Amino acid sequence: MSSEGHAQLLVASNRGPLSIVAGEGSDDDEVRRGSGGLVSGMQAALSASPDAVWVSAAMNDRERVLARRSPGGRISEVPFVAEALHGDFDVRMLPIDGTTFRNAYNAIANSTLWFALHRLYDLPTQPIYDASWRRQWASYVRFNQAFADALAEAAAPGAHVMVQDYHLFLVPRMLRRQREDVRIGFFTHTPWVNPADFGVLPDDVQREIVDGMLGADVLGFHTERWAGLFRETAQSVLGVDAPGVRVFPLGTDPDEMHEQAGRRAVDSQLRLLEETVGDRLLIGRIDRTELSKNVYRGLLAYREVLRTRPEWRGRVVHAVFNNPSREDVPAYREYTARIERLAEEIVDEFETDDWTPLLFEISEEYASALAIMRRCDVVFVNSIRDGMNLVVLEELVLSERDPSVVLSRETGAAEILGDDALLVNPFDVSGTAQALVEALIMPREERAARAERMRAAAVALPPVAWFQAQLDELEKTAG
Ligand code: F6P
Repeated sequence: MSSEGHAQLLVASNRGPLSIVAGEGSDDDEVRRGSGGLVSGMQAALSASPDAVWVSAAMNDRERVLARRSPGGRISEVPFVAEALHGDFDVRMLPIDGTTFRNAYNAIANSTLWFALHRLYDLPTQPIYDASWRRQWASYVRFNQAFADALAEAAAPGAHVMVQDYHLFLVPRMLRRQREDVRIGFFTHTPWVNPADFGVLPDDVQREIVDGMLGADVLGFHTERWAGLFRETAQSVLGVDAPGVRVFPLGTDPDEMHEQAGRRAVDSQLRLLEETVGDRLLIGRIDRTELSKNVYRGLLAYREVLRTRPEWRGRVVHAVFNNPSREDVPAYREYTARIERLAEEIVDEFETDDWTPLLFEISEEYASALAIMRRCDVVFVNSIRDGMNLVVLEELVLSERDPSVVLSRETGAAEILGDDALLVNPFDVSGTAQALVEALIMPREERAARAERMRAAAVALPPVAWFQAQLDELEKTAG
């Protein structure tokens, strides 16, 4: 931080490193680690930058109250929050009013933009852009403006401002209008789509989004594929080149992961898991309860294995861990109920007195997820689309068994891990079932050789280096 209290390095994202949940009494608020790939990557990156400021949104009423009470929204100065923070950076929460926040986050970011970028629409009935959607879009614009104003106010002359993800597409241009002097990086953690799929958004909104992003000096994506699709979209929507587009594939930090997975709570979860799994093979998957993760078809594929290859009954267990996500969006609640029902059906169909075919858990108990990562023989990811899928990289690093990997070819991770993973078309349930069997029977030596190469790829650009590479690129463009 400079002497006038202005920062040289700022990060902006909707979700910050911590979430605060109101307890029963005024003194028992609970502080939790923010979930998801963006937060884990950024948290690790910023722990090496003590003078940084992380600007995020207050996401519930309790956070809004605390943020309003803290001067400049500096929530990291509230003692019980400071204790829970890993790193010395400042965290500022913007107390944007509840309606604006909910419209921007639930209706636009998560129900419109997320759906478009992951191609999740059910086109005969969704999406619908009408007057009520337009009001929600106006909230999204206000939400972005609040971030741009806060950043413009907090940035020192010539500061680096790193804006994250689809909640904040308009911020780079809005900030640029106020501050010519700052260097702006924008990173897209999601996939990108081709111009025809992007065309599902209203024409003026397409232009506003692409122009908003192009306010940045450097535009980062996880893979060449997403970067190339963005360049095509910029050409198609605005008729311009996007010279600042670069690729920074976020990897994982093995030391950090081992530290987390070595905690006592994880050891005890692992012992419990071992009691159920015994010497059987374990197929593990860890996701948020997220439509794009395709858990439904994943369960169908596992059921197909058990139905069509009875020799696997009693010899394999599938552990499915789901971290609750976006419960305010009706489509997410319906989807979660649907995968829960299918999981119950599978257990009912195959369970015996001495074999549990499926361990299905919806929980925030991260230790339980880490235990599955340590124990799994097969890592399973079949996302419909995924910007990177950091979890597959984390599982590779943590599994104590040289795991084989069944991976959707529609993930960024597929570009990193290549053919050492068994790549699947996420819609092809039978093809996925076949790949699961190949993963289960893969000879030990082949598995070990593939796992070693994949682990090297997984740790090639850990968060600190990933972030630094973007800052270096920003420096270069300054010249
Ligand atoms: O890019 C998508 C992303 O930000 C991920 O990094 C993360 O896994 C997820 O979305 C978190 O979503 P939310 O903040 O809505 O829980």
